[in-house]
Amino acid sequence: MPPSTARPTITVVGSINMDLVFRTPRMPVIGETITGEEFRQIPGGKGANQAVAAARQGGAVSFVGCVGDDGFGLQSRACLSADQIDVQAVTTMAQTSTGVAGILVDASGHNCIVLAPGANACVSLPLIDAAAPVIQSGQWLICQLEIPLASVSHAIDIAHEQGVRVVFNPAPVPEAVKGLPLNDAMLAKVDYLIVNETEAGQLAGIEVTDLPSAALAAKTLRGRGAATVLLTMGEHGVLIADTSGERSMPALKVEVVDTTAAGDTFVGALSVGLAHGLGIDAAAMEAQCAAALAVTRLGAQTSIPSRAEVEQFMRSLAMTPSR
Ligand code: RIB
Repeated sequence: MPPSTARPTITVVGSINMDLVFRTPRMPVIGETITGEEFRQIPGGKGANQAVAAARQGGAVSFVGCVGDDGFGLQSRACLSADQIDVQAVTTMAQTSTGVAGILVDASGHNCIVLAPGANACVSLPLIDAAAPVIQSGQWLICQLEIPLASVSHAIDIAHEQGVRVVFNPAPVPEAVKGLPLNDAMLAKVDYLIVNETEAGQLAGIEVTDLPSAALAAKTLRGRGAATVLLTMGEHGVLIADTSGERSMPALKVEVVDTTAAGDTFVGALSVGLAHGLGIDAAAMEAQCAAALAVTRLGAQTSIPSRAEVEQFMRSLAMTPSR
């Protein structure tokens, strides 16, 4: 079947944060004060980033989530709208702060993040029930774990019952779930499970250090019910596990400025590629290109490329965009 050209409808149920980003020559150690190089306030949150990535790659995206009744909430909502994301199902919670992430980015582009969930913790079961028509009217659902797990599980139930395809990025893995398998009944409703090495290790109970251990972890998560598993490994590429077995794709070499939101860019771009009818390998390759561009720029939503930028990048690598 040739790839579809219609804009796929995608609902993202997830988090919205304002990122307070410090560029620093190195990470401080406990008890130490160091002087950084730059401070920026940049819209982020895994849910919002994935929604922006999907919208910039051509998806018609609706968002379900919460912000607080503060300036960060207004700015975050405006940024989503600027990317043509439908924010009618974004609730503003009274007397609550918007989610905030404190992010340190070092000279190698790696980061440390501390999150204050704020309004993200208010994405409740009744709120998901109220948004059920939005979830049911989309063709695809994307979820992560910066909102309560029970709410994510409920959104997945609603989507699955309606035949909506489910992409689940269980990031970050909640402390309470580490070392335990995620509910298998929930995983069985997931069409595409996207994890990094740490998340795969935490959910599969296997330390992921190389390709064989990544393949084993992905196989284990498939055994628990997820139809297709994609394990992202930064500069070591991506491992795909599906009914055809396990195979890996090397990473693209780029100059790393900041890895923040590279995984989110991968999730959003992959979802749009799949929704357009691309096979998993072609969709993963395009998503890798989008994520590679994201790491060359500072910040979360500031780093996420447009469709035109991804196509231009692919051509520069002698690749032909598949749609
Ligand atoms: O995945 C990157 C995101 O994680 C940041 O934008 C930050 O908000 C944290 O949620």
